[in-house]
Amino acid sequence: MHKAIGERIPPYRAVITGNGSFVPAKTLTNDDVARIVDTSDEWITTRTGIKVRHIATDDETTAYLATEAAKRALAKASVDARDVELIVVATITPEMVFPSTASFVQRSIGAKKAWVFDLAAACSGFVYGLSIVQQFIENGRLKNALVIGAETLTKITNWKDRTSCILFGDGAGAVVLQRHDDGRRGILYSTMSSDGEQWDALNCQAHGSRYPVGRELDDPDKIYMKIKGRQVYQQAVRRIVEAVTECMDHYGLHIDDVGMVISHQMNARIIESVAKRLELPDEKVFINIAEYGNTSAASVPIAFDECVRTGKVKRGDIVIFVAFGAGLTWGANVIEY
Ligand code: UT7
Repeated sequence: MHKAIGERIPPYRAVITGNGSFVPAKTLTNDDVARIVDTSDEWITTRTGIKVRHIATDDETTAYLATEAAKRALAKASVDARDVELIVVATITPEMVFPSTASFVQRSIGAKKAWVFDLAAACSGFVYGLSIVQQFIENGRLKNALVIGAETLTKITNWKDRTSCILFGDGAGAVVLQRHDDGRRGILYSTMSSDGEQWDALNCQAHGSRYPVGRELDDPDKIYMKIKGRQVYQQAVRRIVEAVTECMDHYGLHIDDVGMVISHQMNARIIESVAKRLELPDEKVFINIAEYGNTSAASVPIAFDECVRTGKVKRGDIVIFVAFGAGLTWGANVIEY
């Protein structure tokens, strides 16, 4: 059992008992993208590590993807949807302005007992969501919860902007969190941060209250995601390193103690640069961006699901989730799985 220096072990822990993911069947390769904008497979591969991304059809909405991932996670955990008490959907591409995407998931899976909400923290949303639900479980208020990251980013992608359209993909990942009272396994520690000063680095400006539907936009592209790639890149490396270091220091962890670091998948070069700075060996850093692109809040739970399914993460392993995204936002969770 790992224990932070001077830590009071909480009476309950939030344990991940089920995981699941779902991505649309339709894919777009780099060569396909090169037929839309002036780019190449070689440029995209060497600059980002991405080879292919999944694209939602009109019928594959965010709630649909989230529901499919949630069903798989519930089945894995052998938890009945009727026993779920909270559903959090982390997304920046919600089903509607309102109600929340989580409301649709609740309806689809029949989680009648749950209270539900969406969480808008961009790529950090899933990691933020885990830390919120962790509090409710640790203080004894909840027994069973679902945390889902789900995105249909290709629906707000500007397919004329080669600096951003190459990056994004659609998908969803989910985990079931359950209350355990043996104090050992579960989410051990979470750290969350934000910097609203840098909102301009990465955003999609319309249609909210600043640029409502019906008001003419000074720039019609404000309905799409816009990124300042270099700025995001540099901040991402710095903040991810800080968050993982804080987790390791807080828990007195050495690299040998860590089974796997599962980072938000935004660019393979960013993750490799982080790994180098933290002196993490390749086998302790999971990268699957080649097959999905950047799926924002969905990327960590999709990656975690793959790690569990392929045996790269096993029960008892220490896993660190870390994410960085628009806001700016960033955060990490240490989990004894
Ligand atoms: O999850 C958070 C969201 N993710 C991000 O915001 C991504 C973070 N940033 C990145 O991953 C990288 O900054 C990018 C992949 C977006 C860009 O890579 P880069 O190595 O930072 O390239 P750059 O922006 O410095 O551009 C280098 C060159 C430029 O040409 P010049 O000015 O050197 O002639 C760009 O015009 O590459 C050009 N370029 C492209 N060329 C071919 C930009 N996009 C493309 C493209 N294909 N798709």
